[in-house]
Amino acid sequence: MFRIGILTISDRCSKGERDDKSGEAIRGMVARLNGEVVQYEIVPDVREIIAQKLIEMADVTGCELVLTTGGTGFSPRDVTPEATSMVIDRAAPGLAEAMRLSSLSITPHAMLSRAIAGIRKQCLIVNLPGSPKAVTECLDAIIPALPHGLKVLRGVVGDCG
Ligand code: MTE
Repeated sequence: MFRIGILTISDRCSKGERDDKSGEAIRGMVARLNGEVVQYEIVPDVREIIAQKLIEMADVTGCELVLTTGGTGFSPRDVTPEATSMVIDRAAPGLAEAMRLSSLSITPHAMLSRAIAGIRKQCLIVNLPGSPKAVTECLDAIIPALPHGLKVLRGVVGDCG
């Protein structure tokens, strides 16, 4: 079973002004991943708070996959990709490329997400956009490749051939 963290990044959800439907959408989707959600948090759109929480989820909780939702767009408060860049050791651009590619056949607004993905030690961090619809569409695009990627990251699978 993969240890999964969900991090919802939203000023309004963090204040209790809005229900976190996107976090719930992720929870529903990861059932397909043979994953166990070991940490779920909601934080405001503040770079240092997001980065600190990502570090905790990866290094202390030992998440193997952290899925973030929200804060990937153009609004002045959207800083999720920047916070993620602060904590990753290695970029994994293919995941964000695949999400945008597949989402572009659904909406041209897909190109407005600045989501990134990367690896911190043994943890893969993937940014997803903020709406439940976008979360579902983006996870649909990457879930087929995630188990293999996570096994390689864990060191269980070394030879892809
Ligand atoms: N991707 C998919 N698959 N479906 C969507 O509806 N919405 C887009 C985009 N990516 C969308 C999507 C929109 S409208 C925006 S503004 C950006 O994600 C950024 O969203 P965020 O700021 O909530 O992270």
